[in-house]
Amino acid sequence: MSEPVKYLLPESDLPTHWVNLLPDLPGTPAPPLHPGTQKPLGPDDLSLIFPIGLIEQEVSAEPEIEIPEEVREVYRLWRPTPLHRARRLERELDTPAHIYYKYEGVSPAGSHKPNTAVAQAYFNKREGVRKLATETGAGQWGSALALACRLFELDCEVFMVGVSYDQKPYRRAMMESWGATVHRSPSDLTEAGRAQAQHSTGSLGIAISEAVETAAASGDTNYSLGSVLNHVLLHQTVVGQETLKQLELAGEYPDVVVGCVGGGSNFAGIAYPLIRRRLREGGATRFVAAEPAACPTLTRGVYRYDFGDTAGLTPLIPMYTLGHDFVPPPVHAGGLRYHGDAPSLCGLVKEGVVEARAIAQTAAFGAAVRFAQAEGILPAPEPAHALRVVFDEAGAAREAGEERVILLNLCGHGHFDMAAYDAYHAGELEDLEFSDRDMQAALERLPEAPALA
Ligand SMILES: Cc1ncc(COP(=O)(O)O)c(C=O)c1O
Repeated sequence: MSEPVKYLLPESDLPTHWVNLLPDLPGTPAPPLHPGTQKPLGPDDLSLIFPIGLIEQEVSAEPEIEIPEEVREVYRLWRPTPLHRARRLERELDTPAHIYYKYEGVSPAGSHKPNTAVAQAYFNKREGVRKLATETGAGQWGSALALACRLFELDCEVFMVGVSYDQKPYRRAMMESWGATVHRSPSDLTEAGRAQAQHSTGSLGIAISEAVETAAASGDTNYSLGSVLNHVLLHQTVVGQETLKQLELAGEYPDVVVGCVGGGSNFAGIAYPLIRRRLREGGATRFVAAEPAACPTLTRGVYRYDFGDTAGLTPLIPMYTLGHDFVPPPVHAGGLRYHGDAPSLCGLVKEGVVEARAIAQTAAFGAAVRFAQAEGILPAPEPAHALRVVFDEAGAAREAGEERVILLNLCGHGHFDMAAYDAYHAGELEDLEFSDRDMQAALERLPEAPALA
């Protein structure tokens, strides 16, 4: 019989619980702080823009949290997602490594983002919220929330980062097809947007400020975030749990797990269930986070308390940051243009459990095109960064003459990113420089806050 290239699970194998890594994290994680009092944030501080169900998850010390049946019912539209063995890519790279990729691009919105969008829409609906406001970088998150809001009959208002709005008109049309209202950010609808009008390409930090301001100003509107927060990463752990079952079918366990990082959610989704196993039982599995060289938060940022948004409306978050008002260059991986990262992931990088690598966008697209030519799937620009790391790991396995097992979260397809592929094929894609000077200037504007150990 021919060797399998896909490992598929029946719907009955859909996880029943999300994995909460917080109780297993090494050391004592620093709490988020209220920006005014600088005291650890309490549930009341969050209730203006989040439902209680999600706030409870945000601070939960339970190692597992049950997934409501209503959420699992929607997950069944596309989950469990396939795990592929990239046999053709292995031959193309002439590597003894076994390369596996979990493909999240089969969701209706085209990425991993609906895993949390559906859960967030459900908990907001349950508590009588009428509308959700959010930002979107690549358009993937906005699409996911537009879809989830439609399925749970909520209104949805999306602030889309200017550069993505211009590059990806069909992402906007997709969100509108699911009934969402989409604004180019910075917009003139909010104070935060008007104050940033000079940064016309926009940034995730600016768009977050606009969405938070919109939610805070209206009694029946909540805010919804597609990454960074504990509950968002939690919802993504269906990815890693399914992968563990699928790897069992394949009779393998990864030596290295790779994911791209914008705020940390797809990386956490695939890695946290495996990191928990490593923290509890030991083992030599490595975990590598791939970020853009133009927005190198984990590799170049400082470990400090900072705001999650540009205007300083959010709590102070302990994380690696480039400065909350640092505006990253307009790389095509819009979902990776964020000045900070999830606190839990930053803590794991600080503790040396997770390694980080910065990848230039031409190298990422080079890997993506080679991958597409071997495996057929056209990756989104974000996971293209992780693919570049996979290629390097496959090369290292060849040099060492070892059959290493490499696992990738291929967290989205690039069907709405063809302008970027076009630029790459025309030789016009540039490696936009990260400006150390701009970062230093932004770091000077970090808020006063206690130092982190
Ligand atoms: C396809 C895709 N991958 C990755 C990301 C980065 O986010 P995160 O680090 O939360 O997975 C995004 C964000 O929009 C995205 O759309």
